Amino acid sequence: MVYNNLLVEIDQRVAWVTINRPKALNALNPDTINELSAAIGSLEQHPSVKVIVLTGSGDKAFVAGADLALMKTFSPVQARSFALQTGSLFRQIENSPRVVIAAINGYALGGGCELAMACDLRLAAEQAQMGQPEINLGIIPGWGGTQRLPRLVGVSRAKEMMFTGEMVSAQRALQIGLVDHVFAQDELFSHTQKLAQTIASKPQIAIRLIKEAVQNGMEMDKEKAIRYEADLFGLCFTTEDQREGMSAFFEKRSAVWKDC
Ligand code: CAA
Repeated sequence: MVYNNLLVEIDQRVAWVTINRPKALNALNPDTINELSAAIGSLEQHPSVKVIVLTGSGDKAFVAGADLALMKTFSPVQARSFALQTGSLFRQIENSPRVVIAAINGYALGGGCELAMACDLRLAAEQAQMGQPEINLGIIPGWGGTQRLPRLVGVSRAKEMMFTGEMVSAQRALQIGLVDHVFAQDELFSHTQKLAQTIASKPQIAIRLIKEAVQNGMEMDKEKAIRYEADLFGLCFTTEDQREGMSAFFEKRSAVWKDC
């Protein structure tokens, strides 16, 4: 598939999707959101892709938010419809059978921070800066920021970030749980690839069930979530990988996963 705003590369079971609008610091417009949705949908079907990494082109920005040049002229109906379109992409990422990692190579602001938060894991370069600066534009975060940020960093830290609109450094983001790792700029991609390959080498049905258990379980009450986990745990015992994993343990050898 040909994309106008994305670069897609596959490197040893890891698909790298680079948002490529460097002149606008990779700001997201509806076309880019559509392309991201199509690219992720097609990579999920790709037989050799196990993990998807999202990043931004250039060394300045991951994504500097929604495209303000466009948004400036939006009617309320257009703003709502863009928020719903992006909300559906973010749910697609959260519900994807593939693990999706954000490699945050620079500014992740507004919709960029919200995109990163919809991913399973967030790895940042040490010069990256993150934040929800919408307050400075007279609006609120509209792509899930008011919901995902407090779940990641806690209610009052999230409110402070959104009330002030101030950016946080990568180190501060690490401290508050907004990112999982921080690396030197020139090492971000190699560390991301390494982590992605580790995940890609695991049995993918179990990876997918872990993702489903966490994602859906977090939205249930604890009692229901524990029962749901038990159901998914039971489902593991229908797979060849469960038999292979347990046989390999007793035969003192490495398991050979078949993803079935
Ligand atoms: N949309 C469109 N274009 C953008 C953009 C955005 N979100 N962010 C930056 N750009 C453009 C700038 O207009 C500029 O273009 P020109 O060269 O044509 O003037 C170019 O990218 C470079 O930007 P700056 O000159 O501003 O670069 P800087 O280094 O001085 O500052 C920055 C970098 C701090 C990221 C600054 O660009 C900035 O604050 N950007 C806006 C960030 C923001 O407010 N994001 C939230 C958007 S609203 C949103 O996302 C709501 C939501 O919940 C969905």
